Amino acid sequence: MKITEYIAALRENINEAREQGKTVVLIPTMGFLHYGHLAMAEDARKQDEDHEKIYIIMSIFINPLQFGPNEDLDKYPRNLVRDSRLAHEAGVDMLFVPSVEEMYPYGESLTTVNVSKITDILCGAYRTGHFQGVATVVSKLFNIVLPDAAYFGQKDYQQFIVIQQMVKDLNIPVKLIAYPTVRESDGLAMSSRNSYLSPEQRKQAPVLYRSLLDGASMIASGENRPEVVRERIIQRISTESEGKIEYVEVRKANDLSLVQRVNCTVVIALAVHFGSTRLIDNIIVEAQKDVEKHDEIKDS
Ligand code: PAF
Repeated sequence: MKITEYIAALRENINEAREQGKTVVLIPTMGFLHYGHLAMAEDARKQDEDHEKIYIIMSIFINPLQFGPNEDLDKYPRNLVRDSRLAHEAGVDMLFVPSVEEMYPYGESLTTVNVSKITDILCGAYRTGHFQGVATVVSKLFNIVLPDAAYFGQKDYQQFIVIQQMVKDLNIPVKLIAYPTVRESDGLAMSSRNSYLSPEQRKQAPVLYRSLLDGASMIASGENRPEVVRERIIQRISTESEGKIEYVEVRKANDLSLVQRVNCTVVIALAVHFGSTRLIDNIIVEAQKDVEKHDEIKDS
C-alpha cells in the first residue's frame, strides 16, 4: 500500500492505475478506522475477482469545514500508524492523508457546495453548516480522485442522501455505494466517536439500536403512525439510559420527507447525547404490505 499527503502524487498513481485499465474506488474517511470502514475496503476488494482490476483509495482527512465551533474537531481521535496498518490489511492500494493546507491551500475556501432543504432537517437542524462542509470536501475529493465509485457508510444516512443529491444535481459521474452499518456484538453502530464513551455510557448506548429494532418491529406488525413509533423509541431510550435525545424521526427513506402514514420505505433516524458524546443511528424499514393496501383503499 502506498501512502501520500499530496494531491499531485495521488493523481500520478491514479493515472498509472487507469493506464492499467483499473477501476478507481474511493472510500472517504476521517480516520481512527474501525471495521465499519475496513468492511467497505474488503467489499470493494471482493468485487475484484482477479485482484487486478480495482484500485482502492482510502482518504483520511479530518475536515475542519464540517465541524461547528463547539464541536470535537480538536479532540477527534487520530492514530495514523494504526490506520495505515489496518487499511493495508483490508486491501487498500493507496492511503491519501492530506494536511489541511493541502486541501485548503488558501485558508478559508471561498467556494463551498450547499445542498439545500434536506440539510436543514435531522442532523442539519442541530449542526449548522455541517453538511455544507461535508458536501464541499466530498466534491473536492471527487474532483481530486475522479473515482468510478465511492463508498459511504449507511450509519450517516442523511449524509448519504445529501451526497446522492449533490451527485445528481451536479452531474458528477460517480457510482455511490451505501454500505450497511457495521455493529458491535451488542448492536452499537461502530463509530470513531464511540471511543469517547465512558464504560457506563458504553454499556447504555446499545439501547439506541434496541429501540430502533423495536420501532421496526412495530411497523412490521402493522403500526403505521409515525408518532406512535417515535414515542415508543423515545420512551425506551429515556427509561433505559441517561442519553439525552436530540431527535428521533421517521422519514421517507428516499428523500427524507415527512410521512403522515408509514406506507412506503422509511428511515427511523435518531441522535442522542451521552454526556458530551453525540451518537447517531438509523434503521431502514419497509412498510408492511397489508398496511399499504389498507391505506390505498382508505385514500381512494
Ligand atoms: O463520514 C465521514 O467520515 C465524513 O463526513 C466524510 C464523508 C469523510 C467527509 O469528511
